[in-house]
Amino acid sequence: MKILIATEKPFAKTAIDGIKKIIENAGYELCLLEKYTAETQLLSAVADADALIVRSDKVTKNVIDAAKNLKIVVRAGAGFDNLDLTACTEKNIVAMNTPGQNSNAVAELVLGLMVFMNRNKFNAGTGTELKGKRLGIHAYGNVGRLVARIAKGFEMEVWAFDPFVSKETIQADGVTAVDNIEDLYTNCNYVSLHIPANEKTKKSINYKLLSLMPKGGCLINTARKEVIDEDELTKLLDERIDMKYVTDVAPSNISELLQKFDTRVFATPKKIGAETAEANVNAGLAAANQIVNFFKNGDKTFQVNK
Ligand code: 3PG
Repeated sequence: MKILIATEKPFAKTAIDGIKKIIENAGYELCLLEKYTAETQLLSAVADADALIVRSDKVTKNVIDAAKNLKIVVRAGAGFDNLDLTACTEKNIVAMNTPGQNSNAVAELVLGLMVFMNRNKFNAGTGTELKGKRLGIHAYGNVGRLVARIAKGFEMEVWAFDPFVSKETIQADGVTAVDNIEDLYTNCNYVSLHIPANEKTKKSINYKLLSLMPKGGCLINTARKEVIDEDELTKLLDERIDMKYVTDVAPSNISELLQKFDTRVFATPKKIGAETAEANVNAGLAAANQIVNFFKNGDKTFQVNK
């Protein structure tokens, strides 16, 4: 049985060592394709793989068609918008993610980015504090929950909106649950995005919504660039000279934004949210264990193409 790890952005060595152990203990062979630059490399590497582990790598219909022996693909991470689920289902390939495994890394980055923006991108000058400010969490999943917990340590007031999580669950964490998204944006100084990218959410963060934010508002996006309407965000930043945007998933027009709004916009040079040794180990090992469990016991927990 051949298990392929294909990662444009490789796992930390400790994660690879751990994955190797799990795969070899199960009697399988581990193959690595790291830092590849063209889909053709992935197409040939996947040709005889029985299982595939990826990160944000695009598993397109092309890849699925080239993978003649593939039975399972695991996205080591949360968002699976990089997997063509229809193509997987058509070929009876099980697609999974590893929810929660890299959430803490992303949550810590959110607060780090907020402090960074509040302190003038770590330049001289008078900044502001998070204490006493209101943070709105847009989607209360694994990352959103952790952001809430850490923000409370900063003595922030935390609000959240999530139509898929009960108000009781949110309130039990000492977080104010709001009924509609407009309430969140109208009332929060900071809004942190934790929604997935799908047909419903793409471009859903638009001018109308962002205009609701109070003076000095700051939007934090560690989710996906696709959820933002980029033209409308630019228009908003043009009109609202008080608004800030900080992101780990840079929009395509980031250089234009940085040129125009240098002090109010920041983007990490590459997506680093889940880029910690701990998150790599957690997500990588979970992916390997899920594959072994699938082959040995038929376990399909975390399947996303049901
Ligand atoms: C996720 O969905 O888990 C995060 O966006 C992390 O993505 P990455 O594995 O490409 O860093």
